[in-house]
Amino acid sequence: MIRNVLAVETSCDETGIALVEQTGTAEAPRFVVHRNALVSQIAAHREFGGVVPSIAKREHIRALPLLLDEVTGGEPAFWERVDAIAVTVCPGLEPALWTGITFAQELAERHGKPLLGTHHMQGHLYSTLLELEPGAKAPSETLTFPAIALIVSGGHTMLLEMESLHSWKKLGETRDDAVGEAYDKVARLLDLPYPGGPEIQKLAESGDPRAIALPRPMAHEKNYDFSFSGLKTAVLYHLRDNPGANRADVAASFQEAAISVLETKLFRAADECGAASVLLAGGVAANSALRSRLARGSAERSLAFAMPPMPYNTDNAAMIGAAAHMALLRGADPLPLEARGRVPM
Ligand code: KG4
Ligand code: ZN
Repeated sequence: MIRNVLAVETSCDETGIALVEQTGTAEAPRFVVHRNALVSQIAAHREFGGVVPSIAKREHIRALPLLLDEVTGGEPAFWERVDAIAVTVCPGLEPALWTGITFAQELAERHGKPLLGTHHMQGHLYSTLLELEPGAKAPSETLTFPAIALIVSGGHTMLLEMESLHSWKKLGETRDDAVGEAYDKVARLLDLPYPGGPEIQKLAESGDPRAIALPRPMAHEKNYDFSFSGLKTAVLYHLRDNPGANRADVAASFQEAAISVLETKLFRAADECGAASVLLAGGVAANSALRSRLARGSAERSLAFAMPPMPYNTDNAAMIGAAAHMALLRGADPLPLEARGRVPM
């Protein structure tokens, strides 16, 4: 029986190693994060305005042994607790993914542990089940199904319909930029540093979200797909035509347009599918305006609402541990130990 998983995450610009224990049952699992070490490479990529794959690879190679020491405390006895190793194999930047895979393969061989190839977006999905302090009720016990999950990150924007904790169907996804990518690009237009999400959030707090009429792309189309590149272009034109534009108003209006599209589509899906719960995950789920809007919308409709506690929205290894446990619980085969840029979840 696999109870403690050591998880490794290197798909983009965060290096993570975590130790995650699973208790409970397949339908009501509980995850305890015993260790969660993380190094962000943001500073190394900032001067380039985005993630550079070769720099990501170099930084992962540098960080992994240090994080492992931090997690194991250098104690040989640590390995007696570890039942399996999980590693993100897709989707992500292939050179970055390979560093994690090679590192995890070496560890698995050296310590004689099974190695579980894991899907990064399943990590985001199941980050909603992680807890900071174990409470009376596990997050998995507060959810009823069907549920609608919205996953919003730097590379993906997707809506899933979940029949249970272990089965889902994709309802829609972005046709161009992911919403996190739109935040990052609009931030660049506003001369804000990478990553743009937290910067726009901060600037938007002092702006008027109704100041500028920006488009809500695809909000009222009868499908669950998204498109954010037109919104970014509308911001570009507004700044070009209004050189003295108030930057806080631009940030607030952009954020309002993006959130309102996500909110409209998410709750329409929830209505049409007769959902009982809503899940929100991914790096953009760190956005306080988005979190409170979806929490409020869910409460108004009497839907249960789950989102990861704050440190687990953006990339981390704890969520990879949770996803590896979930795959084991539903009897899914681990993914091949091969880096792949894009793989449907
Ligand atoms: O999930 P994640 O860490 O990496 C990917 O798998 O892509 O997501 C990163 C994205 C970036 O685009 C970043 O700007 C965005 O999440 N992000 C935010 C916030 N924090 C991070 N977007 C909006 N508001 C935030 N507070
Ligand atoms: Zn991610």
